[in-house]
Amino acid sequence: MSGGVKVANPQLNRAFSEDAGREVAKRQRPKLKRSLSANVRLSFEEKRRKIENIVRPFILSDDDYHKIMDKMLDNFNKGLGKETHPKARVKMFQTYKGDFLALDLGGTNFRVLLVSLDGKELFDHIAECIFKFMKDHNLIDKVLPLGFTFSFPCRQAGLDKAILTSWTKGFKCEGVEGNDIVQLLHEAIERRGDIKVNCMAVINDTVGALMSCAHSDNLCAIGLILGTGTNACYIERLENVGLWDGDWDEPQQVIINTEWGAFGDDGALNFIMTEYDQKVDKRSINPGKQVYEKMISGMYMGEIVRLVLVKLVKHGLLFGGRGSEELKQMGRFYTKYVSEIESDVDDHFKNTKQVFEELEIPNHTEEDCRIVQHVCCLISTRAAYLASAGIACLLNKMGRPDVAVAVDGSLYRFHPHFHDLMMERIQQLVNPGITFRLMLSHDGSGKGAALVAAVAHRVAEEKQNKQQELANGMHNLAVDTY
Ligand code: GLC
Repeated sequence: MSGGVKVANPQLNRAFSEDAGREVAKRQRPKLKRSLSANVRLSFEEKRRKIENIVRPFILSDDDYHKIMDKMLDNFNKGLGKETHPKARVKMFQTYKGDFLALDLGGTNFRVLLVSLDGKELFDHIAECIFKFMKDHNLIDKVLPLGFTFSFPCRQAGLDKAILTSWTKGFKCEGVEGNDIVQLLHEAIERRGDIKVNCMAVINDTVGALMSCAHSDNLCAIGLILGTGTNACYIERLENVGLWDGDWDEPQQVIINTEWGAFGDDGALNFIMTEYDQKVDKRSINPGKQVYEKMISGMYMGEIVRLVLVKLVKHGLLFGGRGSEELKQMGRFYTKYVSEIESDVDDHFKNTKQVFEELEIPNHTEEDCRIVQHVCCLISTRAAYLASAGIACLLNKMGRPDVAVAVDGSLYRFHPHFHDLMMERIQQLVNPGITFRLMLSHDGSGKGAALVAAVAHRVAEEKQNKQQELANGMHNLAVDTY
């Protein structure tokens, strides 16, 4: 990591120093002082120094973020290039080109079930969910077009054909990788034989978010997910897509699903990886994969915090050196705790204490609350800044003067500061003259799929009508000629 750490650590200041520009810092410093008597203060300084040393690796300098952006741009270009694509880690999949009942698989909702299923069982389960939905809504007799949000890396071979390249976000389900997921879904629907559903379109959640916002705002050109996983898609000009082998009709642009979660899989982020990131990666279902995603998204953030807290306890810097069995359990510190803890705005630390209770930590002080809040703050801020580097990189690459970014995902939605942190950081990293907005896309990923399916259905109907008209015309022609 490069220097300048002291200058660029507003998060640390937030809890411990008067220099902090933020509200939280102003609230915290005097209270820390007040709660400590003069002779305990020395040991407090010592403690503070030790804590700072442990958490410092999460504080990156401006140089670090610029370096990340440079490497990212290089990865994006490799993904787009004809020769470089096969070996590229960040895949930059082409999705849809054009002007432009939803099923959403990929987030937290399904995951618990899925790890224990094989591919056939998975799609049978999805078909059953569709059946239940249709039954509950009296739709069983209808023939419905379906849009399928499938939030995993897929090579798109058509609007209704997507080959899963690899599972991410803790999913592992035999017999799906390398297969067309629409075909797997249709087969499961046929196996049941009691519903009539036609999957017209399969889209990534980023594309869903983009579509549902672009519907009302034509400046929307980036879709971003900050939830269980993270990823972004954007509108790219065909001339920049070396891989493009489709038509060159207007509009000459295509939505690229970057699959940026895989950024860093080639070691590009090793220079900022902390020992906690390494542990999270090593213990994950896909070690060495989705490195950037593991530093940012909700699936991993709580665990990173937990590992730091465990270390602080071990060094006698937190909870009087006594944590709890719960705290020692991998995955037990949920990312929603980070949002809750950071939402505490006064000295009652209501949420923080509630979390401690859930973790069965019996003895804690006000100082412990501050320390835990501080750790959460540092780790979520790094996540927000890393995601900002990605968005700024895309904005600079696109070079459009005004762009709206559609954002969906629980992390962005529920974290109290994510939006503000990102606005501030992107502003610093983006080229002069570029204006941007981050817009919450409420369940955009699901609605986007429904929208695409509806359009695909309409296009198919129009095509059918045209063919019918043509057939009628031919018939009339034939009749006329006779
Ligand atoms: C993971 C998936 C990606 C998805 C993202 C957000 O990174 O690979 O397809 O968009 O999570 O859900």
